Amino acid sequence: MNASPIAVIAIDGPTASGKGTVALRVAAALGFHYLDSGALYRVTALCALDRGIDPRDGAEVTAMATDLPVSFAGARIELAGVDVSEAIRAETISQYASVVASHPGVRTALLERQRAFRKAPGLVADGRDMGSVVFPDARLKVFLTASAEIRAQRRHKQLIEKGFAANLGAILQELRSRDARDSSRAVAPLQAGAPDTVLDSDGMTIEQVVDAVLERYRRVVDQS
Ligand code: DC
Repeated sequence: MNASPIAVIAIDGPTASGKGTVALRVAAALGFHYLDSGALYRVTALCALDRGIDPRDGAEVTAMATDLPVSFAGARIELAGVDVSEAIRAETISQYASVVASHPGVRTALLERQRAFRKAPGLVADGRDMGSVVFPDARLKVFLTASAEIRAQRRHKQLIEKGFAANLGAILQELRSRDARDSSRAVAPLQAGAPDTVLDSDGMTIEQVVDAVLERYRRVVDQS
């Protein structure tokens, strides 16, 4: 095996599949670092809007993403020194993040930034192309999924808890159109996971999903 000495657990999956929460908890349980790759696309979208750049303009957004002044301090995400951890979760930013993520240049510009998170003793990386593109040699790949209805309910609850206005029907509709855009885009499209990586979380609690991922990881470690 040509496995890198630093283990990566890649948790891919569609938006609002719960992968962020699960990845964070798995990282905490193992004492690993954590990469929220979606946050990078969200910050890119926010930065474009702040600077008056059209998110659909691939060339301009790519140039901007190359020098994106983003920094991570634990759960806190800063753009040019300003805490944007909450602002990037707004539904408008979700939509724009999906648009900026469809530009090949933007994805390339953010690639090395993501790989730099791979540090001892290990990394849990969350995002739809973690196992397929960013860390193809990940020790464990999990494709976390859930039905669109369950994901819409989770996103709705999350937004309400954070004090954002939210409408369940509208979220479900937007989620479906985002899934369609993310699945049909030319670069790093959202793909169904390989059968042995899929973990369907419908009907499972977060704790059960976290335990299932940890159990899969233990099996991989035991086999090596
Ligand atoms: O997971 P999220 O909702 O925070 O992701 C925001 C957007 O960025 C979403 O439309 C998918 C996209 N994204 C991506 O294309 N590749 C990633 N590795 C992570 C997110």
